[in-house]
Parts: sequence; C-alpha cells; structure tokens
Amino acid sequence: MPGNSFGKMFRITTFGESHGPLIGVVVDGVPAGLPISEDDINFELSFRRPGYAYTSPRREQDRAKIVSGVFNGRTTGAPIAIVVENTDVDSSYYEKMKYTPRPGHADLPYIFRYGFENWDYRGGGRASGRETVARVAAGAIAKKLLMLLDTKVAGCVEAVDGTRIKEGITFEDVLKSRCRRFRACKEEYEVTFQKILEEAIKEGDSVGALVRVVVDGVPRGLGEPVFDKLKADLAKAVMSIPAVIGFELGIGFEAAYKRGSEVSDELIVVNGDIRWRNNFYGGIVGGISTGEQIVFRCVFKPTSSIRKPIKTVDIRTLEEKTIVVEGRHDPCIGIRGVAVVEAMTAITLVDHAIRSGLIPSTRLSQKDVDVVEDRWKRYREICQHGEGYQ
Ligand SMILES: Cc1cc2nc3c(=O)[nH]c(=O)nc-3n(C[C@H](O)[C@H](O)[C@H](O)COP(=O)(O)O)c2cc1C
Repeated sequence: MPGNSFGKMFRITTFGESHGPLIGVVVDGVPAGLPISEDDINFELSFRRPGYAYTSPRREQDRAKIVSGVFNGRTTGAPIAIVVENTDVDSSYYEKMKYTPRPGHADLPYIFRYGFENWDYRGGGRASGRETVARVAAGAIAKKLLMLLDTKVAGCVEAVDGTRIKEGITFEDVLKSRCRRFRACKEEYEVTFQKILEEAIKEGDSVGALVRVVVDGVPRGLGEPVFDKLKADLAKAVMSIPAVIGFELGIGFEAAYKRGSEVSDELIVVNGDIRWRNNFYGGIVGGISTGEQIVFRCVFKPTSSIRKPIKTVDIRTLEEKTIVVEGRHDPCIGIRGVAVVEAMTAITLVDHAIRSGLIPSTRLSQKDVDVVEDRWKRYREICQHGEGYQ
C-alpha cells in the first residue's frame, strides 16, 4: 500500500507538491449532515499560513476550495475533496541546487528511492512542509466533528532553542496560544521566543522547538489494542509530520530515570468517579484513553535549509561541496508546525471515535448538528484574533 493515506474510518489522502498547481486532500468517512464551510477550513489554515514576520516569506493566501462532498453547507456522506492553490511559487533556486542535496532535507533519500530523473526537486516536492496544508484542512473537519463529544485539541510551543517553559501549563494556556505569534504556552515567553528567532535569523541559522499538545474532554475507551493502540496511532500521526523527530506521551522519556513507586500514579475517587491522580501517562493506558486529558510533546528539528554554509556532495562528480541554501524557509518550523500537530491529533481521535461508535459513521441528527455548531462557535471565539496573524 502506498503511504499517502491515513486513518481507517475517517481516512485522509493528501496530494500535491510544493511547486505544483495546488495541494489537496480527500477526506472519506465523514458522516452526512456535518455543517462545514470554506470559512471553517480557512480559519484553521490561518494558523499555519506562511508569509508573516518570523516565518517563511513565501506569501500564500491558503484559501480552501471544497470541490466535493458538501451540499447546502452540509456534508453528504460522499468523499470531501478540498484544494488549496499554490500561488507564490519560485523554483529558480532549486534548479541551481538540484545536484547538491540539502543534508537534512529529503532530497537525497528521494533520489535513492525514486531515481534522480523522477525526482521533483522544486521546493522539496512532496516532502515539503507545504503538504501539511492538506492535513490542516482535513483537521478542521476532524476538529469540528469532535465537538460532538466536546473534545478539544490544543497545541503550543513549550521550548525553542533550549529555552523551556517550566511553570504548570493548563489546557487554557495551551488553547490561548492560538492568539500568540510564537504560540508560546505562556504569554510572557513570547518576547523571549521572539529574541531567539531574531538572533537565529540574523545569523542565517534556524532553531528547533518542543510542541506540547493537550486534548480536553477525551471520552474513555478510544483505542484498538494491540496494534492500533491510541498511543501507537498518535505517535504515527505525529511522527509522519515533516521535521518531527521525537514523540513522548505524558512523562515520556523522564520515566527512564524514575522508580515505579514515584510514577505508578494512583487511582482515586473524585465526585464519585474513578480518576488517575497525576495523569503521568498522558491520558492513555493499555493503549486506551482513560478519560484524563491526553498530553504529549513532540520535537521539531531546526529547519535544515539555512543560509549558513553546510557541507554536501555533488551527486554528479561525488565531490564534497559547501552550499548556502537559498529559497524561502522558516527559521523555526515548530511554530507553524503546532497547527499541523493539532490537525493530526484531531484526525487520529476522530477516526477512533468513529471506530468505537461514539461518533455515528453514517449521519448526524439535527440535535447533534446543533451541539456541534454551538461548541465550534465557542472554540473559534477563544482565539481573539479570529483569523490568526497577518
Ligand atoms: C509547516 C512546515 C514547514 C516547513 N518548512 C521548511 C522549510 O522552510 N525549510 C526546510 O528545509 N524544511 C521545512 N520543513 C521540514 C521539511 O519538510 C522536512 O525536514 C523534510 O521533509 C525532511 O523530512 P524529515 O525532517 O521528517 O526527515 C517544514 C515542515 C513543516 C511541517
């Protein structure tokens, strides 16, 4: 099976290349009756759009066009196809660079796998971060559908270039990061992150980032042991995002340095309900959601295309060469990457919610629709800026 699709019941297939005419996604398995508009999708796309300060200067409007599966503003049960045009394409840099692959990008592995003669070297082709427009568009549908269960997905930047936010971070902190340019989990870190980015840009360098995701209102019982455990599917969804090189659930890698007695967590009774006291394992135990918040982190590596000289090899002559990468690049992928991680999380959760029967697979009732619309409106209002940053 080729690898361009993800999900079993809620299934997305993305298509398009960075410098092709458009990027698109087909979303299959959306129940009929869900109200969905291009505005809903554009709203989510606005959080990953490039072209403003401290991001790639590629100026893309990222306006979604729904070309299938929606009639009179509601899903019909047919596959939903969404396309987003690439309007600011400049392939000239890549023509010059095609024989000297960027070491940290997908250039050389794509040549090894598909052959140089078949390789779309323009802007990273299919391996470009631009492909993730399709994921965020599909994520808008997933997020809206999750409103039926009152499940809300939010992400923020917890660390940039070694500066980490250590104070207790609440779900509200994470959600409100949508109103912040650098997506910092806490407002007061915005200035610090800005300075780090300014310095990196001045030096022609890039920085890595740690992204935290919190999901609130998670129903119990999501996950299909043993190979489709919720943690396994989430890890796959997130690790499939370009530039993500690490994933940890709950206390994650810290567990390696702990005793069982320190992190065994405890079951307690709160208001007549069984709960986990500390949620050390990020809301998933046995591969099944516990009903506690899902909490995980992922790491975005520093952008590999930088203006500082880097060593590579000319694939025609096998001579070692030093290159300075041109083109338009993000100094810190993690900031725009938050929207992509949120989208992949929502897609994974909605897939499991349909698989477990918590969200109907065929059609929503009018009552369901009213609930979804009401909660979605509130979710959108939380971001005061409404349209993301310009
Ligand atoms: C939103 C987003 C934007 C990205 N922008 C860039 C970029 O400007 N320059 C770059 O070299 N890589 C960028 N990347 C990362 C590359 O696509 C990625 O490093 C490459 O496909 C290799 O895959 P890997 O890092 O997962 O191994 C971006 C990724 C995302 C998610």
